[in-house]
Amino acid sequence: MTISTTTPLLPFYSAVAEQQEQLRQAMVGKRISELRTPTLVIDRTVFKRNCERLGNIKAQHNVKVRVHVKSHKAVEGAALQLEGAKTEAIVVSTMAEAHRMVSSKLVLLGFPITPDKFAEAFALAEQVEAFQIFIAAPAHNQKKIGVFIKIDCGYGRAGVPLDSAFEKEAILNLAKRLATSSCATLHGLYAHAGHSYKARSAEEALTYLEQECNSARQFQALFLEEAGIDIPYLSIGATPTVQAIVHHDSSERVSKALQGISEVHAGAYSLLDRQQMATGLCTEQDVAISVACRVASRYPDRNTTLIDGGALAFSKDTAPQGGFGVTTTGVVLQSVSQEHGILASSSSSSPAAQQHVGDIVRVLPNHCCLAAACHLYYLIVENGNDQVVDVWFPVRGW
Ligand SMILES: Cc1ncc(COP(=O)(O)O)c(C=O)c1O
Repeated sequence: MTISTTTPLLPFYSAVAEQQEQLRQAMVGKRISELRTPTLVIDRTVFKRNCERLGNIKAQHNVKVRVHVKSHKAVEGAALQLEGAKTEAIVVSTMAEAHRMVSSKLVLLGFPITPDKFAEAFALAEQVEAFQIFIAAPAHNQKKIGVFIKIDCGYGRAGVPLDSAFEKEAILNLAKRLATSSCATLHGLYAHAGHSYKARSAEEALTYLEQECNSARQFQALFLEEAGIDIPYLSIGATPTVQAIVHHDSSERVSKALQGISEVHAGAYSLLDRQQMATGLCTEQDVAISVACRVASRYPDRNTTLIDGGALAFSKDTAPQGGFGVTTTGVVLQSVSQEHGILASSSSSSPAAQQHVGDIVRVLPNHCCLAAACHLYYLIVENGNDQVVDVWFPVRGW
């Protein structure tokens, strides 16, 4: 027997709303240098611009856009993403995010649901115009829940790969059961090319896009040919492959790749980071996120500078450029331990070597989603300024 689980996070967030508002008022109008570090900073001007880049996809390619909110997990960020991409559809990665985003019309839980959460998912389905999940729920409920079958397009993380005979059998049976289910509707196929983060140019990202779309179409053909089930809705996407669509906008290869694709989804495109810079599809000017840290001490004999942001402010995620982040003046965050970060200067004339104890440094993280998840709140600034214009409180927990 499956136990139903739920974590009542919403009362927690209602209870702290007043304190969050007090904190917001105490910080808005301040300069970052007047506030405690390490602290996460988002430049809303850059964030909005990134979000708006997806705004033409629907008109240009007749493909819908679904925005992933996992990168920031904040309602304000989700609103800007929806507005920028001109869409009403979001994808979340946790039930906690789903509860926070119930005012959105179309919410997809983008993590394969475990059976303990079925009851909670059906309860959510009552609140959201269309709530969708990744796998079928054997329950007897009022409102049908939409289901996407997650396919593996080469990433090897979740979902069924096309070449697995055993899993192929299982997935065909699943589709057959879903097609006749009284509590679920088979809505579509969902592919996420997470391995496209390995792209090192816009051209390579385009190849990943083609593979991602091809996989979705191949699965669609498989279901039709071997189970007689037509699954017309195909959802694909990861930041590099969606950025490739934007980058190569009017190329014939993009239109060809997107044939039969119903929807693209992406999340990290809103913030961007060093990993995305390594794909060649964005520059430092496009990165909306940074961690403001303070110089705690300097060690001229070994050309290093200690800052107050370590793994708990950046995560330990890596990037092809090496290190754990880079300052806006180009100095690499060479190593991190829990609260310590070490900036490595190449020489005594490097920018890091010129810093004084107490100075603020702004460091671009390797991976925006993991760095953002380290912080309780985000300081919002605009136009490259360092004055706080808002504070966002992301949802935490699962
Ligand atoms: C299932 C799923 N879909 C979509 C995304 C969005 O990918 P990205 O942040 O690269 O745009 C992710 C990100 O991890 C994901 O796990």
